Amino acid sequence: MTDTNKTTNQQWGGRFSEPVDAFVARFTASVEFDQRMAKQDIQGSIAHGKMLASVGVLTEEERDQIIQGLTEIEEEIARGEFAWSIELEDVHMNIEARLTQKIGITGKKLHTGRSRNDQVATDIRLYLRDEVDFLLEEVTRLQQGILSLAEKEANTIMPGFTHLQTAQPVTFGHHLMAWYEMMQRDYERLVDCRKRINILPLGAAALAGTTYPIDRNMTAELLGFERPTYNSLDSVSDRDFAIEFTSAASIIMMHMSRWAEEMVMWASAQFNFIYLPDRFCTGSSIMPQKKNPDVPELVRGKTGRVYGHLMGLLTLMKSQCLAYNKDNQEDKEPLFDTVDTLRGSLRAFADMIPAIESRKDNMYEAARRGFSTATDLADYLVRKGAAFRDAHEVVGKAVGYGVKEGKDLSEMTLQELKSFGEMIEQDVFDVLTLEGSVAARDHIGGTAPAQVIKAVTRAKQELAVR
Ligand code: ARG
Repeated sequence: MTDTNKTTNQQWGGRFSEPVDAFVARFTASVEFDQRMAKQDIQGSIAHGKMLASVGVLTEEERDQIIQGLTEIEEEIARGEFAWSIELEDVHMNIEARLTQKIGITGKKLHTGRSRNDQVATDIRLYLRDEVDFLLEEVTRLQQGILSLAEKEANTIMPGFTHLQTAQPVTFGHHLMAWYEMMQRDYERLVDCRKRINILPLGAAALAGTTYPIDRNMTAELLGFERPTYNSLDSVSDRDFAIEFTSAASIIMMHMSRWAEEMVMWASAQFNFIYLPDRFCTGSSIMPQKKNPDVPELVRGKTGRVYGHLMGLLTLMKSQCLAYNKDNQEDKEPLFDTVDTLRGSLRAFADMIPAIESRKDNMYEAARRGFSTATDLADYLVRKGAAFRDAHEVVGKAVGYGVKEGKDLSEMTLQELKSFGEMIEQDVFDVLTLEGSVAARDHIGGTAPAQVIKAVTRAKQELAVR
């Protein structure tokens, strides 16, 4: 990166009587971060050049020179040989200047009928579309990981919680499939957001369109966009798609932070429900016994920065008058960091989730201890003719007795149970077992092992048609 005290204002020198202040040049430059979109900038420029040639604004030789020059520049960038310059402000002007250096005056013709305003809007959309496509694959990989674990854990019994108090027994497979459902909605949100990313702003030029006979449908088709945008002012100023993406990303991070919290708790000595392989954990420099669940903790923590970016982008756009304003240059860093954070977090989870091992005995024991089949006893009484509210009362008394005596419901004798409700018979023990309790919830969305297997099968079909 070159950075001298003198700047040249090559691109708009005509109107200026003194060079821009060196600090101002640095302050207003975006090349340090927007060079990330170089590939997309070149892709957009090649399509623009082809379109200009097809409508007769450029000759075919000029078009070919431009394509050749840009292709070489792309290779220079890939090889790390491209000399980025702060004086040239951003990725667009750096590449254009290099093109002119390489092919002469024809390079200066590429900018005919466009502006950096529609160019940058196009680049971000191309960039984000690529990233969304990659993220969709990562979400799918994570979902596949959840399914493989859920299938293994369809029969594993654990306590289900409300208020973090033992509520009713559930299967671990069922719990995992709740995570799958969250990810499924996240996938759909990204797909939906992609539809509004995939529209071409190029052709809006600075804000009002251009006097050249451009063919925006052609450019859209060349770049794989669904269609061109319909209003030039909106085209150069709209960043809704970035906000939508960051919002979808925030929801994904929110979901992952919830699982992260569960994993951190469950991996603790107090719960000891799961084993996280060592490769996803680190130790402590002072406490030799420690094995810390860093990966879930860090994902939980990184959720905050993505929320922050969402707020940042919303605030960036708040009250902005039409059309392009330099403010919009501030959209990139939050967007890029959101992408990086999401990529990292999804990758970590997709790698880690299928490697989780359950501590089945501890899960089972925890479910057994917490009177988790109390509702099953109430349902049993209802089947024997009691009204649900009365049954609730009876079971409440039995639980109170159990707490005092240190006995779970299933550990009481028939005699003890009968003292709370005359209609209780020997068959009560079928419903007081954890296995009986989960197996009985055998309907769409229920926790029965048979339903977990059905849910996994349905989900596999869902993923198969992606
Ligand atoms: N670097 C600018 C951005 O990121 C590109 C567009 C600048 N346009 C302008 N007229 N200054 O938004």
